[in-house]
Amino acid sequence: MTETRNALRFLLNDAEVALDEVPATQTLLDFLRLERRLTGSKEGCAEGDCGACTVLVGRLRGGELAYESINACICFTGSLDGAHVVTIEHLSRADGPLHPVQAAMVAEHGSQCGFCTPGIVMSLYSLWMREAQPGQLSAELALQGNLCRCTGYAPIIRAAKSISSHGSVVEDPLVKHREATKARLRALRDGKRVEIGTGKGRLIVPASVDDLAEIYAAEPTATLVSGATDVGLWVTKFMRDIGPVIFIGDLKDTQSISDSAEGMTLGAGVTYTRARAAMVQKYPQLTELWDRIGGEQVRNAGTVGGNIANGSPIGDTPPPLIALGASVTLRKGKSRRVVKLEEYFIAYGKQDRQPGEFVESVFIPALPAGDQFACYKITKRRDEDISALCGAFRVTVAEGVVKAAVIAFGGMAATPKRAKAVETALVGKPWTTETIEAALPAFGIDYQPISDMRASAEYRLLAAQNLLRRFHLEGTGAAVRLVREVA
Ligand code: FES
Ligand code: FES
Repeated sequence: MTETRNALRFLLNDAEVALDEVPATQTLLDFLRLERRLTGSKEGCAEGDCGACTVLVGRLRGGELAYESINACICFTGSLDGAHVVTIEHLSRADGPLHPVQAAMVAEHGSQCGFCTPGIVMSLYSLWMREAQPGQLSAELALQGNLCRCTGYAPIIRAAKSISSHGSVVEDPLVKHREATKARLRALRDGKRVEIGTGKGRLIVPASVDDLAEIYAAEPTATLVSGATDVGLWVTKFMRDIGPVIFIGDLKDTQSISDSAEGMTLGAGVTYTRARAAMVQKYPQLTELWDRIGGEQVRNAGTVGGNIANGSPIGDTPPPLIALGASVTLRKGKSRRVVKLEEYFIAYGKQDRQPGEFVESVFIPALPAGDQFACYKITKRRDEDISALCGAFRVTVAEGVVKAAVIAFGGMAATPKRAKAVETALVGKPWTTETIEAALPAFGIDYQPISDMRASAEYRLLAAQNLLRRFHLEGTGAAVRLVREVA
């Protein structure tokens, strides 16, 4: 029998917080602003887009404590048990000197309206702690999730690069007192299940994945929340009552990444940020896609397991994972089953998941030597945007002939879906421009996309066809030759 605790415990700046009454869907931003009157974090969009609400969350992982930026507007308070939440108020007292990040922003004229500035400062703070002398790319990536509508980004990026000239990172309190903070966080972790509230308002943080299996089998109508980068919007935008809520984002047993010659297994709780290094090393073709999943705050909170579990037709990871032949391990109680990812998505909003069953891990096979593989995300703006469509292609070509092809798209149907008619039109044919052109009409058999605010049906179909052309040109080196000729 798992022991329970009826209070949520975490650190907020320097103070320890214990809450025995927490609405299951209370956002961290509401908690900060309305209950604690920490109003430095702002609400701009309440959907994880603008970054005005950015705070840092530090969690113990394998003995290390790293601080990452997240969007407080779509983070639920209930997900923070055992964490350290750091807000803009922690950087300097009203009568004290400016923090080096703030000083850099002032010196470089990086701030005007003050509404988005606190979030920008927090994103830069997180960057500075892991890279004291960041370059252009690091600064741009760190700021992907922060919208500034007035100054332009040039002064903010100059500020990002010059923080260390205003102070030393080793003297920063979060760095200097890290061991002491680790000890405080360890003391908060007693290995117990957290349970607060009753009925639909119940909030549960399982003690382990076994505990989760037991709770969810008994309570299959509960909502599982991992990073909340999607579920958060169900609450803040659609006002949905999702209780009871089970928070699984910080479950220790779902945090593993294991790599072997056969492939990579990601525990369902691994965030995009934590998966990045291993993923792009094994599948370098996914680097650009990975860096364009949301903004940094979203990647720090969102998980690959969650992206799969909720079955969005425009999720970023399913197309490439289907093309790579991935499978998911589903667990219910003590039993497990493995399902090919392409078969997991049944219809819009419907996945092959029984009541009480959850995604425990994802297995992604290694790319066979010689296979060509690429993934393309098409959006209205480059960074922090949702796909209009996302296509992944993998072909095996031997002696100039296509031996196998797997093509999968998001944004083209009610689920992430393979282009089987296009694949059939390619297999057994020479890997030539003529074959590609002959295969293009088959997209109309595989997909009847809809028109919506992201793209028209005609655009989606044409873009999908052009992506196949692009994949072929890049794979044969013709794209490079074309660029050289134009140059
Ligand atoms: Fe816009 Fe949170 S308020 S990202
Ligand atoms: Fe707020 Fe730029 S500082 S819009």
